Amino acid sequence: MENILEELKNDLNEIKKEHDLNEIKTKYLGKKGRITELSSQIKDLPNEEKKTFGANLNKLKTEATNLLETKKEEIETEILNKKLEEESIDISLPSTKIPMGAPNIVEKIVEEVEELLMSMGYDVVDGPEIEKDEYNFEMLNLPKGHPARDAQDTFYIEGEELLLRSQTSPVQVRTMLEGKGEKPIRMICPGKTYRRDDDDATHSHQFMQIEGLLIDKNVSLSDLKGTFDVIAKHLFGEDCKTRFRPSYYPFTEPSVETDISCHSCKGKGCNICKNTGWITVSGAGMVHPNVLKNCGYDPKEWQGFAFGFGAERLAMLKYGIDDLRAFYMTDIRETKNFDRKEAE
Ligand code: DAH
Repeated sequence: MENILEELKNDLNEIKKEHDLNEIKTKYLGKKGRITELSSQIKDLPNEEKKTFGANLNKLKTEATNLLETKKEEIETEILNKKLEEESIDISLPSTKIPMGAPNIVEKIVEEVEELLMSMGYDVVDGPEIEKDEYNFEMLNLPKGHPARDAQDTFYIEGEELLLRSQTSPVQVRTMLEGKGEKPIRMICPGKTYRRDDDDATHSHQFMQIEGLLIDKNVSLSDLKGTFDVIAKHLFGEDCKTRFRPSYYPFTEPSVETDISCHSCKGKGCNICKNTGWITVSGAGMVHPNVLKNCGYDPKEWQGFAFGFGAERLAMLKYGIDDLRAFYMTDIRETKNFDRKEAE
């Protein structure tokens, strides 16, 4: 037994890997292992020796198992230390800087307006970008040949009936048709619009509008003024002043253009506001009785107001950007800059 223990110690001294350890375990403690085999000799021993032999054998088994276990731990620690050494990190090295994106600021403006108007009970709705001429123009009181169509140089898709919407106003029509002349409506629709404009600092063949529509009973122009005032102050600060100027849109009567006081010069006059102290940010008005009728609402009973903001224009004013194309360049440095400006 003593010899076997010595041999086992020698074997263990020579190995390095866990794999070899298993072999040794089998060699000594396996079914036909050296130590296991000793048990079969018990039956041949004289009775008085059996007890001591058995006790010694058990001791040997325990010692062998302990030795194997200790060796196993040794090998595992060694492997772990080696791994730690190999994978050690030099924490004094400067880190690689991962460029961060920032939210697109047109999207940010849209979200700000959405959040505000939702808190005032408006629904945010969607409409198709490929639209019928009927909804984009005709039902909005712009029959074929109407001169006001020229202002929205339109991309037609199929003949004269299908087009890329030139404004988000057709969503007004769609929403009113759903209301079936019975339901009051409060909705906004932010969305892409398209016109055959050459791209420059202030024009783009694709841009974003935020349409708004409210239909109810006893609605007046002053409700529109109040709503516009809330939106303007929310976006440009409490000291932002608002005004309406008479204008013309076929789908509203009366129609207005809505101005905010120039937040850059606080109304004193600068090149952003062309020295007027005011900046136009949307078209708006009271929904034209013809439009109400076309969409199934009785103008004797129902009134409404509507407005349409240019989202990029709002973003340009808020963040002091002078070129519309910046929004579509997808240059990460631009958005980073805008973010910084806001933080300031
Ligand atoms: N759709 C108009 C445009 O694209 C903007 C507009 C004006 C929308 C008056 C409205 C409105 O809802 O009432 O020029």
